[in-house]
Formats: sequence, C-alpha cells, structure tokens
Amino acid sequence: MNSPFQYGKVVEGDAFTNRKKELKWLLSNFDNNINTTLLSPRRWGKSSLVRRAAKTAANGKIFCFIDLYNVRNETEFYSLYIKQVLKASYGKTQELLSAAKTILSKIKPKFTIPIDSKTDFQVQLDLDIVKQSYDEILNLPEKLSQKKKKKIIVCIDEFQNIEYFDDPLLFQKRLRSAWQYHKNAAYCIYGSKKHMMMNLFDNPSMPFYKFGDVIYLDKISEEDFVPFIIKNFNITNKKIDTEFAKQIVKLMDCHPYYVQQLSHIIWINTVIKVTQDIIDKSIENLLEQNSSLYENEYEDISNSQINFLKAIMGDNNGGLSSMETIKKYNLGTSANVAKIKSALLRKELIDTRGSRVFILDPVFALWLKRRII
Ligand SMILES: Nc1ncnc2c1ncn2[C@@H]1O[C@H](COP(=O)(O)OP(=O)(O)OP(=O)(O)O)[C@@H](O)[C@H]1O
Ligand SMILES: [Mg+2]
Repeated sequence: MNSPFQYGKVVEGDAFTNRKKELKWLLSNFDNNINTTLLSPRRWGKSSLVRRAAKTAANGKIFCFIDLYNVRNETEFYSLYIKQVLKASYGKTQELLSAAKTILSKIKPKFTIPIDSKTDFQVQLDLDIVKQSYDEILNLPEKLSQKKKKKIIVCIDEFQNIEYFDDPLLFQKRLRSAWQYHKNAAYCIYGSKKHMMMNLFDNPSMPFYKFGDVIYLDKISEEDFVPFIIKNFNITNKKIDTEFAKQIVKLMDCHPYYVQQLSHIIWINTVIKVTQDIIDKSIENLLEQNSSLYENEYEDISNSQINFLKAIMGDNNGGLSSMETIKKYNLGTSANVAKIKSALLRKELIDTRGSRVFILDPVFALWLKRRII
C-alpha cells in the first residue's frame, strides 16, 4: 500500500486538508472578478490551495496557470503568457492559432507546432515588436474572455521571480496599467519571499498597491492536522493515538510540508501501531535526510546571525533586543540586532508574527538544537 502522506508536490484529493476559509475567499474573488495576491513562506501550501480553488470553481470559467519558476526575463514571461492563456482557452490547435492571429495581429508570434502531440508548442516573439506592443499581449486574457464569453482567471505562481528581470518596476507598471481595465479577466498572483512580495503589494509607492485582496496564508492548525493524520493512518490499516498525532504536529510547528514528511516517515516505519520509539527514530531519520541541506544553509550564516538564532531558541524573557539578551548572546548593539534581524528575514530564515520572532523552518531549528547548539 502507498503512503497516504505526500510532500514536495501540489497536494490534492485526500492529501489536501482544510483551507476552508481561504478557499471560500478565493472562490468569491474568482466569481466577482477581484484580483488576489496570496503570500506565504515557502512550502506552506500556496500552489495546492490555488489548484484546489480552481478545481472547485472550474465550472464555466477558464483557468490559466503560469509558473514563473523558470522565467528569468520579460520576453520569456510574454511567450509563456501567450502560450498558457491560449492553451487554457482552446483545445484545438487550429482554433488556437486562428484566435492568436486575430487578437495578436501586431505581435505576430511564431508558433512551432510539434508533429507528435506529446510535446508542447513553442511561441517565439520578435523583441522589437514586443517593445512597441506588449500591451496587446497583456490584454490577451480580456480579449479571449470576451470572445469565449467566459470569465478567465489567470493564476501566476512564483511571482517573486520578477526580481530577476532587468527592470522589475517598469514591468510591474506595464502589468498594472493593462490589467486594471480588464472586466472579465481576474488575476491571482502568488509566491514566497514574503517580505519582498509584501513590498510589491503592500507598499503605497508600488504599482501593485491595492491591486486586489492580499491574503497571508497561515500554516494549518493543530485541530485540522491531528484528525487528518489519524484518518490517513486508519484508511491504510495502521493506527496512531491522538497523543502521537498531536506530538507530530507540535514538533513540526504546524508546518504543512514537514507535518506530511514526518507523518510519511512514521507511516513507513510503522507496521501496525505507532509507538514513541518509532516517533523518535523517525525524527532522527528526518534530520538525517535533511542534514546536507542544513549543513549548506549553516555555512551561509554568520556568527552573529547564529547567535541571534540561539537567542530566539533560548529563553529571553526581556525580548531579543534587551540588554540582558544582547549580552548573553553576544549580539553587539541594539542597532546590530536590528541589522541581523533584517538580514535573516531577507534570507527567509526567520519570520515575525506581531512581536514574536521565530525560525521559519522547524526542522532546521531542531537540527541546530540537536547537532550544533
Ligand atoms: N492543504 C494542505 N493539506 C495538507 N498538506 C498540505 C496542504 N497544503 C500544502 N501541504 C503540504 O505542503 C507541501 C507544499 O505545498 P505547496 O507546494 O502547495 O506549497 P507552496 O507554498 O506552493 O510551496 P513553494 O513555496 O515551494 O512553491 C505539500 O507537498 C504538502 O505536503
Ligand atoms: Mg508553490
């Protein structure tokens, strides 16, 4: 029997849990043509959530998915944009080509259509024409939705990658100025690097300020994860006590990816019923599996940053910038503490919630505690 726990890919069906509130919000925005930005640190479940919402809402709407993971410049963005929007709107190549010909009459993209149906078609663009008429490309979803008389939702994943473009600010201005007139197309933009993305969408001086709703995705709560774990053991004829399921969720600090990964290892190590010994052994397995990754990460952290991480994990009743903590952990001055903190935030090693500062990766924190500190 296969493990019911999955990690490292978009989860669906029984492997997906909860997100009721966020699903409702997304579905309502899709219905009402409201743009959405979805932000969270890495591996908290953004892609899975948007896919799930699209599946639930698909009836009568066109969903188009654009993943910027491999996109490093504006031209690559435009080619992928044309390709994905057309592909989502037309099943037949001939129809797709004829729509492209009429709608993209200035851009005149070149299509390379493979003979076999397994490989994807490619879109080539003339750079000089694109520079003059990029708005024709950006308006493609709106034009197509009018033509097809269906709403179109354009979902753009890994949006933080626009950071690599030559002029990210100009690019954002171009998107915003075209998209703001669209009546039948809505945009759902998501990505990690929360602090960089927050600056794009929450900063009044940036083009995407008040572009739509900004959703900060949370982790999945203990109340949701515990029954999820128990159910998945049960349906695969293995048993886990509630206390042990709670232990997994607490140890992994409700982190969706790691709750699934640790549950998977425990499931593999269990024949009939989970015991404390199995959990302990599985945590060691988890640390071993990730250790080379963490060793690399550790090499990139300066001594003062390590001291700061130690302070987060240690007890510091007076707060991280109190004289007592600064002295105990050798953090220099309070100005220095602020500098270390913003460097670690940029690296996505820590995050803040109100006044609380925490290490984002609960397993890295555990590794530091057990192996280093
Ligand atoms: N709703 C969910 N229920 C159960 N597990 C989930 C859920 N969402 C995410 N996960 C777990 O977290 C992992 C990462 O999910 P996903 O790829 O959707 O996150 P992401 O935020 O898009 O990550 P990245 O920042 O790497 O793109 C999944 O493989 C799964 O193990
Ligand atoms: Mg993702």
